[in-house]
Order: sequence, then structure tokens, then C-alpha cells
Amino acid sequence: MADLPAAESLHGMKRTHPCGNLTEAEAGREVILNGWVSRRRDLGGVIFVDLRDRSGVVQVVFHPEVGPEAFSRADQARTEYVLAVRGEVRRRQPNTVNPNIATGSIEVYAREVRILNPAKTPPFYIADNVDVDELVRLKHRYLDLRRPEMQRNLVLRHRITKHVRDFFDRNAFVEVETPMLTKSTPEGARDYLVPSRVNPGRFYALPQSPQLFKQLLMVAGLERYVQIVRCFRDEDLRADRQPEFTQIDVEMSFIERDDVLSLMEDLMSGLFREVLGVEMARPFPRLTYAEAMARYGSDKPDLRFGLELVDLSPAVVESGFKVFAQTLAAGGQVKGINAKGCGAYSRKEIDELTNLAQTFGARGVAWLSVGEGGEHRSSFAKFCAPAEVEQIIARLEGQPGDLLLLIADQPKVVAEALGHLRLEFGRRLNLYDPNSFHLSWVVDFPLLEFDAEEKRWVAVHHPFTSPLPEDREKLLTDPGSVRANAYDMVLNGVELGGGSIRIHQRQLQEQMFQALGFTPEEAYAKFGFLLDAFEYGTPPHGGIAFGLDRMVMLMAGRQSIRDVIAFPKTARATDLMTEAPSQVAGRQLDELSIQVKKS
Ligand code: AMO
Repeated sequence: MADLPAAESLHGMKRTHPCGNLTEAEAGREVILNGWVSRRRDLGGVIFVDLRDRSGVVQVVFHPEVGPEAFSRADQARTEYVLAVRGEVRRRQPNTVNPNIATGSIEVYAREVRILNPAKTPPFYIADNVDVDELVRLKHRYLDLRRPEMQRNLVLRHRITKHVRDFFDRNAFVEVETPMLTKSTPEGARDYLVPSRVNPGRFYALPQSPQLFKQLLMVAGLERYVQIVRCFRDEDLRADRQPEFTQIDVEMSFIERDDVLSLMEDLMSGLFREVLGVEMARPFPRLTYAEAMARYGSDKPDLRFGLELVDLSPAVVESGFKVFAQTLAAGGQVKGINAKGCGAYSRKEIDELTNLAQTFGARGVAWLSVGEGGEHRSSFAKFCAPAEVEQIIARLEGQPGDLLLLIADQPKVVAEALGHLRLEFGRRLNLYDPNSFHLSWVVDFPLLEFDAEEKRWVAVHHPFTSPLPEDREKLLTDPGSVRANAYDMVLNGVELGGGSIRIHQRQLQEQMFQALGFTPEEAYAKFGFLLDAFEYGTPPHGGIAFGLDRMVMLMAGRQSIRDVIAFPKTARATDLMTEAPSQVAGRQLDELSIQVKKS
């Protein structure tokens, strides 16, 4: 930095006003501003600097007649220099008013300027909507976070968190911190492990969630618990997943499912009203898991639009098209959607849709472009009786010009593949306003699902979720048919939160472990502390946890949770700025009795 100007003192030049808050009300007043040079334009006789601080930008004018010394200092200033400016607020001439910025009707004529610190040329321009590789942004995250849109995201996150804390405080919840160095709990992902120096060969797990602790707080008689808490999961990352993320974690005693749902609707509708000024219709629609899968092919359906999946199985039981008939005979389904007005799609376009469906496990897509007077283009109609074709069209309410897309497969594959085609056409056909919000509940999830790899039943939510009372008898005899007293909140097709009414009796909890294939000894070795606690007067209880990062992402209208986390990890779970994870000294490993395998 040898040839950069020396840094000057702030003393006597502390800000009187934030840059972005100046208005015509301050016209004629002298103000002091502190901030960064966002843009500098030298018009020969006069220099314009857009000065930026957290509140926004204001135009500062350096004019030789107003502040001769300031004018020559401004000549040295470059982008991202840190300045203190003393000057007079003046109204702009009507023809120079800038309607694009909040301070566009005024400017500040500088009388004095100090360079508080010079700056190297940043690797990217500090402005909204910059087209910069995210890896570069993450490496220089402190510069990325200087961009106004990123600051808006962090401020929004703060406001949401504040609203949430205030809401729970008003409703008699107590925020309690639970351990970060703990024992592994089975939320379904891999644990991050922390070696214990004083207990060689033993490991703590970072919590995937505080699930067991919040239940133990109910045993402890806290009755209403909340925590805004960091959780850690070593899983494959996506745009809405991070290895460390934040939950709004809630647990309540002496409640039933609808008490939780209704209080959480209070929370969310208040949040949308106060933070975004958006009114949510109450109660939020509720779908059972079975309905959601049947109608939308997803357990987190985007309900901003219809385009429901239609079951065509009854129309094709006796189909001449073997794929249909054989799929049904093998216990599968034939379902379809109507891509309205897409009948003119070319073979190439249809092949692309088939490729998309194949990435979700479908073997193929059968299609029919509805024509006038029974003249259809289709991949399968020639194998079917005319009445069958007309039935399919009628069930999908096909009109000339529509494209009908059908998938025949096992129910899981049909749901996954056709559900994604539905989302694709929701977007393509502009079936919803991307800026709108839709909140709903999905309830009555299956309690267990069969893990073909592990060859045993695993919990869909977690092993502490209670079965619906009416299904309880089937826990050991027909585990696959047992429904859970569990619920997810869905926002615009994203799972925002999930929870359940818990098991609170030792005997039922033991049965659940048995259904999951644990021997009583294994169950006790892992969760003995919980089973023991259940014997000392455990209240009926239940709760929920929301993904705060996802909530902020959606409310900020962003596509990735990395945009609403100050210092996120890459998809490879690395921090490009600090270069974590990193190697550690051999001495540190020795102290932990750890040897790293050479790969
Ligand atoms: P669950 O595992 O469903 O439930 O998690 C709750 C919510 O946390 C968010 N979430 C994530 N967000 C970002 N990155 C991740 N890797 C990630 N994983 C989950 C989601 C999800 O809905 N203990 C239970 C809750 C309960 O039963 O009360 C639990 O953790 O938005």
C-alpha cells in the first residue's frame, strides 16, 4: 500500500447523519458523513462521489469554489476509500434529480474531507445484481457483504429473528440453550464429530437438532421452550441446505396437534404482516401426506398453482398400450398432467421433457398433443382404442392445442417425476406470481419407511414421533401402514419446518425402537437417559422446528440460503475465506490420540 494516501484521523469528523437518511429537510444544514466511495466521477472542474454507508448512498459534490482543499483531496479518492466528509446539504436542480435513489433530490457540497483509509481496487464492483462468480464472492465475503442487497438480507434476517423472539416471549416461552458438544441423535444425516482429548477414542457429536434436549426440558417442567439454535448435518448440500444452519426450535407440553399448528399460524401470519406487509389467509390449508402425494406428487407441494396430477389408471386398465397395462398389473399407476396450450411442442422439446422426467427415475413419458376432431399426435394413441384415448383426454380436460404428459410407473416414481414436470410447467406457463407466498400444512406422514439398503424400517421424521392413536396397534404388525402424528409447514414448495406430537411413555417408545429393529439393549445403550426420564412423570408434549435460513431466503426472494447467511460454506462444505476445513498440526492430533489415514 506504499503509494496510497496515508490514513487520517476520525477525530472531530464523526458522522452527524447516515448517508441514506438525508432528505430535503436537511437542505441548508451542515452535516458530517462517514462512509465508502461507491462511485467517483471526475468531470474536470468538479468531482462527484457517491458516498455509501449501511443506510444508503448520497451524492457528494467536490467543487473548487466550495472547498478548495477538499476538492484536491477528493482527487486522490478511489472506489472503496473510507471518507469523512463535512459539507452542506443542497437541493438539486430539478433536471438533476435522481429518482432511483432515496436521497436523489439533494446532494452534499463538501467543505472538508478526510481519507480515513485508502483501499486497494476490489476484485469486483460493490453493487447490487453484479454478475460475479460466487466463489470469488465467497473468498472476499467481507466485500460481498458490503453490497447493499446482501446487507438488506442480513437486516431482514435480524428483523425476522427479532419478531420470532418477541412472539415467543409474549406467549410465555423460555429460551433455553442446549449443548453443542453432545451425543449423536438420529435425525437422518451424518454427524459432525468432535474428538475428546480427555477421553481418548471418544467423540462428541455436534447436534443435528436439540430434539432430545427439548423433550427433556418438557420432562423438566419448562412447558414452553424455544431456541434459535445452530444445527449441524453432514449431508449432501443443495441450494437450500448448509452443513450448519439455524432452526427456530419449539417444544410445548399439555398440547395437542392443533394447538401447535394454530400457534405457528399466529407466528407466521404476524411475521409476514409485520416484516413484509403481506396478509396470509387463515387457517393455512391442510393436506394429508397421502393427498399431497396423490394430487401434487410431493410432500411439499407448491400450492401457488393447480395443475394437479390426474389418475388415469381406471381409463387404461385394459389398454392396448402394453406399458400401461403391464404397469398397472405390477401394482403401478398411470397418471398425467395437462400442459395447456403446449400442443405444438416439437419432438425435440418433448424429448427434453422426457430427459427431465428420467432424471427423477421415470422410464419415459407418454404424450398426446390434442388435435381437432380426433386428429391427435401421440406417442401411444395408435396402440389404444379410440374410446380409451378419448377417456384419457376427458379425464385431463384436454382441449385442442393442449399437450398431455403421462407417466406409468410405481407410485413413488410417478409422484417424483410427474411432480417435477408439474413444477416445470407451473414456471413455464407462468401459473403463479413468483413474488407471492403460500403457506400450508402437510399432516399424517407415514411413521416409518422401509430402507432397502439397511433392510429395516427407519423413522420418516425421527424415532420420537408418536403414531396416530388409531394406528398404534399396527406398529409391530404392519409398520408400513402406520401414520405419524407429524406435520410439516410448506412455503412455496419448500419444507419450512417440521414437527410432531411426541411419544411420552416409555413402553411405546420401546416399541418404536423395536419397530426400528433395535434390541432392547441397543435402544437402552443409545437412549437409556430418555427412557429413564420418561418414568418420572413426562407430560404429553410436542413441537416443531423451522429452518430460519430457508425462511429468510424465501422472504427475501432469493434462490439460495447462502445469500442470507453471513459466512456460508460452499457446496463442498468449505469456507473459501478462512480455508476451513484445514489440516492441523501433528501435535494436536497426538493430543487427541488420532491418526489420519493416508489415502
Ligand atoms: P427437521 O429435520 O425436519 O426436524 O428440520 C427442521 C427444519 O430445518 C430445516 N433444515 C435445514 N435447513 C438448512 N440446511 C439444512 N441442512 C437443513 N436441514 C433441515 C428445514 C426443516 O424443515 N428435531 C426436528 C424438529 C421437531 O421434530 O421438532 C427436526 O430437526 O427447514
